[in-house]
Amino acid sequence: MPLFIPTIALIIKSPRADAAAVVGRERISLNAGWRFSRFTSNPDSLSYSTLKQWILPSANDFIKGAERQRPSGTPPGNSVNYVQASFDDSAWEAVNLPHDWAIKGPFNAPGIGGGMGRLPSNGVGWYRRKVTIAPDDIEATKSIFLDIDGAMSYTAVWLNGNLVGGWPYGYNSFRLDLTPYAKAGDNLLAIRVDNALDSSRWYPGAGIYRNVWLIKVDSTHVGQYGTYITTPTVSTQSATLSLVVEVENQKNTSRQVDIVTEVYELDSMTRKARGDVIATFPRGTIKVAAGAKQAFNSSVTVMNPLFWGPPPTQKPNLYVAITTLYASGAPTAMDTYETHFGIRSITYDANKGLLINGQAVRVQGTCNHHDLGSLGSAFNVRAAERQLQMLQEMGSNALRTSHNPPAPELLDMADRLGFMVLDEIFDCWNNQKTKNDFHLIFTDWREPDLRSFIRRDRNHPSVIAWSVGNEVSEQSGASGGTTGQVLRDIARSEDPTRPVTVAMNSASAGSSLADIVDIEGLNYQGEGLGTSTSGSFPSFHKTYPNKMIWSSESSSALSTRGTYIFPVTSGNSATVGGASAGGNPTAMQVSAYELYAPSWGSSPDKVFGQQDRNSFVAGEFVWTGFDYIGEPTPYDSARSSYFGIIDMAGFKKDRFYLYQSRWRSEFPMAHILPHWTWPERVGQVTPVHVFSAANEAELFVNGKSAGRLKKAQYDYRFRWDNVTYQPGDLRVVTYKNGAQWAVDTKKTVGDAAKLNISADRTTITSDGSDLSFITVAVVDSNGDTVPRASNAITFSTSGPGQIVSTDNGDPTDMTAFPSLSRKAFSGLALAIVRANAGASGKITVSATADVN
Ligand SMILES: *[C@@H]1O[C@H](CO)[C@@H](O)[C@H](O)[C@H]1NC(C)=O
Ligand SMILES: *[C@@H]1O[C@H](CO)[C@@H](O)[C@H](O)[C@H]1NC(C)=O
Ligand SMILES: *[C@@H]1O[C@H](CO)[C@@H](O)[C@H](O)[C@H]1NC(C)=O
Ligand SMILES: *[C@@H]1O[C@H](CO)[C@@H](O)[C@H](O)[C@H]1NC(C)=O
Repeated sequence: MPLFIPTIALIIKSPRADAAAVVGRERISLNAGWRFSRFTSNPDSLSYSTLKQWILPSANDFIKGAERQRPSGTPPGNSVNYVQASFDDSAWEAVNLPHDWAIKGPFNAPGIGGGMGRLPSNGVGWYRRKVTIAPDDIEATKSIFLDIDGAMSYTAVWLNGNLVGGWPYGYNSFRLDLTPYAKAGDNLLAIRVDNALDSSRWYPGAGIYRNVWLIKVDSTHVGQYGTYITTPTVSTQSATLSLVVEVENQKNTSRQVDIVTEVYELDSMTRKARGDVIATFPRGTIKVAAGAKQAFNSSVTVMNPLFWGPPPTQKPNLYVAITTLYASGAPTAMDTYETHFGIRSITYDANKGLLINGQAVRVQGTCNHHDLGSLGSAFNVRAAERQLQMLQEMGSNALRTSHNPPAPELLDMADRLGFMVLDEIFDCWNNQKTKNDFHLIFTDWREPDLRSFIRRDRNHPSVIAWSVGNEVSEQSGASGGTTGQVLRDIARSEDPTRPVTVAMNSASAGSSLADIVDIEGLNYQGEGLGTSTSGSFPSFHKTYPNKMIWSSESSSALSTRGTYIFPVTSGNSATVGGASAGGNPTAMQVSAYELYAPSWGSSPDKVFGQQDRNSFVAGEFVWTGFDYIGEPTPYDSARSSYFGIIDMAGFKKDRFYLYQSRWRSEFPMAHILPHWTWPERVGQVTPVHVFSAANEAELFVNGKSAGRLKKAQYDYRFRWDNVTYQPGDLRVVTYKNGAQWAVDTKKTVGDAAKLNISADRTTITSDGSDLSFITVAVVDSNGDTVPRASNAITFSTSGPGQIVSTDNGDPTDMTAFPSLSRKAFSGLALAIVRANAGASGKITVSATADVN
């Protein structure tokens, strides 16, 4: 018998009309209309080692000293049939970017272990599409660039059968100059990416997984990342803005240009200038030699600046500087270039932590990988925005981009929403973590990767520090200091305004790497590793009395949403093990009492206690905000992690409320766990825990008080560990400083009776990427979620849209993500719906399930 079939209607609205093209510069999306093929064995005899000498020069703008010369002769690959216009690719898959070829599965891909997520990310991928260039663009000697925001990995690009260049590191953004190879009319763009097995510790994704752009601009133009704005002095009365504009002249004659830059407030929703000009930099005139780059510096004062700062105590105000280049004396702009920025002051204080615009702000951050759950690594603005909004609802104000440069749009969002970002670039240096990871090319690429990363990101007010490494094995030896110093000095030379840090899990105070970083970033060891060390905050603080310390990675608590395992440890943190220690190795699930962690980790409670005992610590970046694909510690046969505060489908674990109680301590909230539907536990001890910012709480079990508790110092939850389960209800009444604060209830629910469907947003845009996240809950006849329901749900749609993927947050669910059938897990399932590009009207989504 099917459960009641509910439906929900999504209204489609048209995308906002694009802004009129900015005078003198076109930035055209190349996301649509590709043909793609993946090969599990090498189809073309090319490899990074055969291409390397031709690819190294692509980094010339980001190395100091001798340029890398392109070898003479015909580049490798120019005769491969995939790069020829004549090749018939009609049998290849039609795809749009951003594209992650591995996410559709199936799981258990040969050669890919649990760490990398068991999805088929390895192999060679070829992408091809036509790019039409108007004769005018060629005759007007424009520069034509290809900007790739990220492609996994070892990208090499051919235009019209000519190798243009490439970039190996899959997480960095890069530009290639197509000008020498472009022609009027149809051009054939062919892109090869190549992913080795054992190339990553987590799910890397595969293919061109971020946006790709074609830039057409006068051959004399603002260079790539060609503006840099800093704020040397900031007060409430005024701020000095210092601007560097780098003009690149690709003409074969010198040119004189006038540079005009005006500053406006930025409307962060429309990303457009708002209101009148509020400051104008002095006009500059520079002569740029043929084939050269020339910087022009100037500064201006902004009166009564609106600061950028993290909510809720501050506002993330933004500005835009619009730079226009004119051929000297001529009235028409050659190039117009926008730089979004913010005005804020930051102090990194060894005792008080972070001061933003003079106000102490605790770092309440999470670390996150780049994948977006069932959407994989294919970047999607709405999916990322939904994550940030949930983190903000929890009270989080900071992000660590563990362990690689993020999509550029993520930083735009962080600017707009007011997240502070620890922007991180590398997971390894010279020493490998996996056989084919970045260590293979670290020597050649560390400098260009680091310089391009910082130049890309340094105008974002959200970025508050650079991390040049994560848990590198060099940290405990002398090479940690020598390599760390090289990277630190490169970072400082690109951006002297921000500190440089490394996330260290086994350095000690006084080790060479700890000596040279600007912020002591401690992973776990500050609080103490598991139950084995006592915590290194005091020794670091003593050795570096003038350096700020934060937990660049904390907790690593493990849990499965809605799963509770008995008995419950009486301690406030425990290493996960078998049933008596929060684990279920057979079902591969971890108890959501939120007290369990791997050997190096700690419960949130223990981390809070250690941070509070060492009040000089600036805060923490919790591992992790969201569950992610791969690294399924402690059960390697699963598909995805247990670390998330929120599961991979975006459903909140109980832990969400533990962090909310600490990070939004002004928010009246109380949250009871576990659920209260335990037919098999009648008469058994079933601990009840409550997360709340209150300091007193009284629990009522079927109306009878189980006692009123007061939190002691370093207690972060209320726990009634001796409650005997009987069906009925739980009710907690909490008090803060004597006054009633918040109430929560949990009750025993009945059998699955129907499905309940809801959407995060019922109006979505038909821009080809906007999404609605549809939740189906299996509910009883009263409409309450059945906490352990696992009914198989089948989703369907009608109208101009499609279900992109489904999930349920179960780390062991090996059903491929595009499947329209998905078992509910702990009562819930998710479907992600996208409207067809250009569509209008209505999409109807429905769900059906059989009674179990
Ligand atoms: C500059 O380029 C133009 C157009 O390609 C060409 O006609 C001219 O000879 C070049 N001048 C020099 C000095 O190379
Ligand atoms: C321009 O500013 C940059 C970055 O602040 C600096 O490195 C450079 O020395 C300045 N140039 C001049 C001429 O002041
Ligand atoms: C727990 O319950 C048992 C039996 O009901 C009782 O003997 C014991 O004292 C209780 N322990 C606590 C800590 O309340
Ligand atoms: C049921 O769906 C409605 C919206 O359709 C939503 O407001 C409500 O929270 C859902 N209930 C459950 C138990 O998920």
